[in-house]
Parts: sequence; structure tokens; C-alpha cells
Amino acid sequence: MKNTILVTGGAGFIGSNFVLDWVASEVAPVINLDKLTYAGNPQNLAPLEGNPRHIFVRGDIGDSALVDKILAEHQPRAVVNFAAESHVDRSIHGPGEFIQTNIVGTFNLLESVRAYFGGLDDESKKTFRFLHVSTDEVYGTLAPNDPPFRETNPFEPNSPYSASKAASDHLVRAYHHTYGLPVLTTNCSNNYGPLHFPEKLIPLVIHNALAGKPLPIYGDGQQVRDWLYVRDHCSAIRRVLVAGRVGETYNIGGWNEKPNLEVVHTICTLLDELSPRSDGKPYKDQITFVTDRPGHDRRYAIDATKIHRELGWKPAESFETGIRKTIQWYLDNQSWVKNVTSGDYKKWIEKNYSQE
Ligand code: NAD
Ligand code: TYD
Repeated sequence: MKNTILVTGGAGFIGSNFVLDWVASEVAPVINLDKLTYAGNPQNLAPLEGNPRHIFVRGDIGDSALVDKILAEHQPRAVVNFAAESHVDRSIHGPGEFIQTNIVGTFNLLESVRAYFGGLDDESKKTFRFLHVSTDEVYGTLAPNDPPFRETNPFEPNSPYSASKAASDHLVRAYHHTYGLPVLTTNCSNNYGPLHFPEKLIPLVIHNALAGKPLPIYGDGQQVRDWLYVRDHCSAIRRVLVAGRVGETYNIGGWNEKPNLEVVHTICTLLDELSPRSDGKPYKDQITFVTDRPGHDRRYAIDATKIHRELGWKPAESFETGIRKTIQWYLDNQSWVKNVTSGDYKKWIEKNYSQE
């Protein structure tokens, strides 16, 4: 076994942030397996071009022959599984891909990793880890005064996306319990930050605001999410990889619960300061209330006490510092936004917001 790690989905939002941070601070090489769906963007990894410590492979986590070959050739000491279909609204319009990648794909990946793990020597078996990146959405929705999600909360997923992630979490758990695979699972809240595809709330609102388009708020805008700066999420995953107890689950959150409308107002106010509208009017004038998402979860909140108590991790960014950095990144990287919003992106926006 080598020091190499295998990351899946490392051309997406969180995966590419993770790979960039990893290569900047670790000597161990990273193999990056990504299918390059609409959400995967090789441009995210441009700073690593020509770097021998990053090897990109285009392919599917469900392609057993390919995954077996990668494992045999590179002998990684860990697999970090980010690859997934990740957007709730897309899972409502078309759940099939979510079942295929998030459930069947994770199952195939686990089977390949189980076979690889079985062939390792005893010393390598002690240090090998399979880290599965999941979401707080598996726990369902909270009422206003409920305590935040703990690792012991029952799974009550409400969307095809969260149901498919919950299924994958269960498979990962079962592979530990039944086969002794050394797994770790993380369930995190809503990430935001650089390289976030503008189909999710925060990058969509920044993009639409600057383009002079409506800022669509689903329903009454009082749904609550906990917001985690993406680089804090990456540092938490690295901490769990190093020190997490095998077979355990860790909730990762930013201690930043906010109603959507407040998030959008904050973005508007910061944009008024950093990139004012040419007509002098406030960006909040672009806010538009639209038809609610079917089955929309009312509130997510994370109790991240366990990872703090056991592994000493806590987020470095508050929402105020993280959102300012994020907006600045989008202002400085308009060519990235331009590239990802051409082509198929337009068709998606048309489909999702056509009832406005
Ligand atoms: P993303 O949609 O931006 O990226 C997903 C990546 O996976 C893309 O690069 C895509 O090409 C790749 N991919 C999809 N199907 C694949 C397959 N079958 N084989 C190989 N690669 C495939 O997602 P993200 O926001 O970066 O999320 C990463 C992980 O974190 C996901 O597992 C998601 O469920 C989880 N998560 C995300 C958030 C969030 O706020 N974004 C919150 C909690 C959990
Ligand atoms: P999103 O970024 O899609 O993440 P998730 O659904 O996984 O939490 O959405 C975050 C919140 O913002 C969610 O409550 C839905 C809401 N939302 C809007 O109000 N308008 C939008 O255009 C989008 C994309 C999301």
C-alpha cells in the first residue's frame, strides 16, 4: 500500500476544493476519479495542471473494472467518496440518476474497495480508511424549536436526493458491520464558497444579482439551513480521516443557522458595497418570491459537538467572514462563472423556474 489517496467526485464543488487544499498542504499524491457530469468541471483543477501529485481519471464510481484497476495500480491508503448527484431540485425533476450514482454507484465502489481491502497485508489493513461524505438531509426536517441533528438522530429523508444519500450511508455502515471495512461517515450541512455551481442558492443569487435577473425565493423564504464554509468542511474531512474512530459518523456544521431570506439579504447588502448596481438601486429590489419546492424541508441544523469534543475540530469562518470571501471570489472569477453558465445550464434554469 502506498501513501496515495483516491478521491471520487474531485472535479465538483467540494471535491475540487478538497483536492486543491490537499495538494497544497500534503505530499501524498491524489488520484481523482470523476465522471465529469454537468457538475464536474476540469477548470476547477486548472492550478494542478502538470502537477505529478494529482492524477485525474475520467470515469464512473460504478464502473467496477475501472475502479478495480485504479485500486490495483495505485494502492491507495484511503478512499474519500464525494461523487454524487447533489442537487435536490434536480432529484425532484429526475430521480433516476440519483439512484444510479448515489446508491448503485456507491455499492459498486464499496464492492471494489472490499475486494482491494481483503488483499492488503495486516499492517496496511490497520491504516486503510474509506471515508464517505454525506449530508445532514438524511435526518429529515426539524421544527423551529427542535434540537439540532445529532449523529444518533433517526434517518427520515424527504427528497429523492436525501433518500439516495441515506441509502448510501446505510450501505457504508453495513460494510463495516458485516465485512469489517474500516469506514468513516461525515454528514455535513449546506456548504458555500468558491467553485460552487450556480444552481444552488448562494452562487445562483450572486450570479443572478450581477446579471440583473430575479433572485428566486422559494415559498416564504423562512426555511432554515446551517451554512458551512467549504474549506472548513475540507479541514474537517481531513481531521476525520486522520483521527476519526472507525465505524463512526461525524456531523459537520458551521453553527450558522439562517433563514434563506436573510442569506439573500446579506448577499444583496454585500454586493451593494462591493459591486453597486449602475443605476444606484439596491440589489434586494431583484428579490422575487416563486412557487415553493415540493416537499421542501423547513429546517436543518447541525450539532457539531462530537467532532469538536473527540477530534478538536471547529470551523474557522463565521457566516459573515465566509460569505464576504465567497462574494469576492465570484467577483474576481467572472470568467469561471461565464464558462459554467453556458450550454446546458440555461436549459436547467428554464426547466426549474418556468412557473415564475
Ligand atoms: P457536486 O454536484 O458539485 O459534484 C459532484 C461531483 O461528482 C461532480 O464532479 C460530478 O462530475 C461527480 N460525479 C457524479 N456522478 C459520478 C459518478 N457516477 N462517478 C464519478 N463521479 C461522479 O457536489 P458537491 O456539492 O461537491 O458535493 C460533494 C458531496 O458532498 C456529495 O456526496 C454531496 O452529497 C455531499 N454534500 C454536499 C453538500 C453541499 O452543500 N454541496 C452538503 C452536504 C453533503
Ligand atoms: P440549495 O442550495 O438547493 O440546497 P438544499 O436544498 O440542499 O438545502 O437550497 C438552499 C435553500 O434555498 C433551500 O431551502 C431551497 C432554497 N432555494 C431558493 O429559495 N431559491 C432557489 O432558487 C434555490 C436554488 C434554493
